[in-house]
Amino acid sequence: MGLPRQITTPIDYQVRLARIGDIGAIQTTARASWTAAYAAILAPPTLAGYLARGYGAPALQATLRARKSTFLVAVRGASVLGFCHFGERGRGSEVFQLYVHPRLWSRGIGRRLLSHAEMRFQVAGARRYGLTVLKGNEQALLFYADYGFERDRKRDSRDEWHLVKTLGP
Ligand SMILES: CC(C)(COP(=O)(O)OP(=O)(O)OC[C@H]1O[C@@H](n2cnc3c(N)ncnc32)[C@H](O)[C@@H]1OP(=O)(O)O)[C@@H](O)C(=O)NCCC(=O)NCCS
Repeated sequence: MGLPRQITTPIDYQVRLARIGDIGAIQTTARASWTAAYAAILAPPTLAGYLARGYGAPALQATLRARKSTFLVAVRGASVLGFCHFGERGRGSEVFQLYVHPRLWSRGIGRRLLSHAEMRFQVAGARRYGLTVLKGNEQALLFYADYGFERDRKRDSRDEWHLVKTLGP
């Protein structure tokens, strides 16, 4: 059984823009987080396919260079503890990816990354921002509900729910 959060040692890490040199560490965390989150939801070939397409070096290089999105990493030394990719893709402000290494879930890293994205959206004048979550991903649904997201049923798809967070004035 894990220790209650309040008596676990605080983690010392920094949040910054991702660099090309982070790609290997991003891949490591992506693989661990995707496997922990989706092994029970997605068939192994589907999971492997997503990882290969989304996190191969060429795909990540293109993502990191994209002008209309931002890729943040939570880093400690050369390790990437988590990452958040967000921006605009013609459907308003969106978080495209938020992944934390499963060894460090529930230590506040996801909230901190998301709060950086939210602040950027707010500063840019967004009234709301959204994201999609696989229906079976209960951990993430609870995390986002706790963070103030609500379902936007109009934009649900067969396998995914669309969630939206309204930003204050
Ligand atoms: C979802 C994810 C990013 C959250 O990151 P995290 O660093 O673990 O989250 P934090 O520690 O910042 O916040 C945890 C909060 O989420 C909520 N939460 C998480 N799991 C919960 C659960 N099982 N029951 C209730 N609330 C839960 C709580 O509010 C919790 O706050 P608390 O720890 O103070 O109680 C992380 O679990 C992850 O990488 N999951 C796999 C990838 C994924 O599903 N990403 C989202 C795809 S859209």
